[in-house]
Parts: sequence; C-alpha cells; structure tokens
Amino acid sequence: MTNTHHLLILVGSSRRGSLNRQLAENVASIASAQGLRTTLPDIRALDIPIMDQDLEATEGIPAGARQLRQVLEDADALIVCSPEYNGFPTPLLKNALDWMSRPDGDIAGLDAFRGKPALALSASPGALGGLRSLALTRQLLDNLGMLVMPEKLSVGSAGKAFNADGSLANERQQHTLSQAISTLTDRLRRLQS
Ligand SMILES: Cc1cc2nc3c(=O)[nH]c(=O)nc-3n(C[C@H](O)[C@H](O)[C@H](O)COP(=O)(O)O)c2cc1C
Repeated sequence: MTNTHHLLILVGSSRRGSLNRQLAENVASIASAQGLRTTLPDIRALDIPIMDQDLEATEGIPAGARQLRQVLEDADALIVCSPEYNGFPTPLLKNALDWMSRPDGDIAGLDAFRGKPALALSASPGALGGLRSLALTRQLLDNLGMLVMPEKLSVGSAGKAFNADGSLANERQQHTLSQAISTLTDRLRRLQS
C-alpha cells in the first residue's frame, strides 16, 4: 500500500475572491488527482495576532498559530501561494510563519519546517504575477530550514487566468504546475526511501 503524502497549502491572502486562493485551490485539485492529501486553511480565520514578543512571553503561542504549526508537523511538504505587496510576500503570510517558527514548550522553533520540501507560487493581476516576491518567499522558506524546490510559477493577469473549473487557461502554465507537484512527490518518495 502506498503512503499518501500530505501537503499544507498556505495562501498569503484572505481577500474575498483572492486570485491566490484560486491558484491554491487549483493546486489542491491537481494534488488530489495525483493521490495526495491537502490541507488549505484560511489564515485570517485563525485569528493570529501580529507578532508581539510581550504577548508571547505572557500568553504563549496563539492557538491559531499552534494549530497551523501542528498541521505543518503532520504535513510532508508546504506549498505557498502568495500575492506580492510591493514586491514582498504578504504580512498575513509572514506573520503566520513567524509565529509558527517559535519554540513552544518542548517543541523547538523550526522543528515543523526543517528538511521539508517547499514550493513557492504567486498570482497577481499584474503582468509579472508577483514574480518579484518569489525570490523573497523562497529565501524565507530557506531561512526556516525548508528544502526549497527549484520549480516556481507566477501567474500574471490572474484576473482572467482561470477557467470555470479552476484550472489555468494557459495550458503550458497548468502543465508546469502539474509537473511541479509530481516533482515534489518524487522528492518526497526519495526522501523517504
Ligand atoms: C499593499 C499592496 C501592494 C501591492 N503591490 C503589488 C506588487 O508589488 N505587485 C503586484 O503585482 N501587485 C501588487 N498588488 C496588487 C495585488 O497583486 C492584487 O491586489 C492581488 O489581487 C492580491 O492578491 P489576491 O487576489 O490573492 O488577494 C498590491 C496590493 C496591495 C494591497
């Protein structure tokens, strides 16, 4: 029997109608068709406060951040779909990752991240699709100890990039995404063997 790999997909936007959420749902659908399990939480619904070390000292890790960290602990890999804000990944995403990286009781900081494959993707109504932020997102994931995959995709003009079924209208991009997820699965298999 094959082991079902589990992907955590984090979206850097909780905006209604978010293009990055659409991209993430497309990723989840491709992954599920390839036999993977996915978790796609809404970070904003987890009510994670802005990083505050005084709050951390008095109240510990917020429940929402702990919950996300536990999902990442259970996951085999992380996929990030984030818009760029002035060329950077969003504060929503950065803040969640910062809280998730903190030590919590017996759990060392970064434990949930270390050695896990990660893939960075972006979408934007702009022509470059958030491309400028991808290098920074990748650097952040690397700093968290993750194995950042060389594959990447930024979906430009994303307001008109999706078909009604959620797939990308550009077949080459849809293929790139599908290939990136199967390469990630191959990497997971190799890491486990
Ligand atoms: C503060 C701010 C800065 C932005 N900076 C950029 C940018 O640098 N490049 C870009 O392509 N879009 C930029 N945008 C536009 C976002 O890409 C656009 O709002 C996008 O739809 C957000 O992603 P979402 O649809 O997943 O919410 C910016 C938006 C905001 C709110």
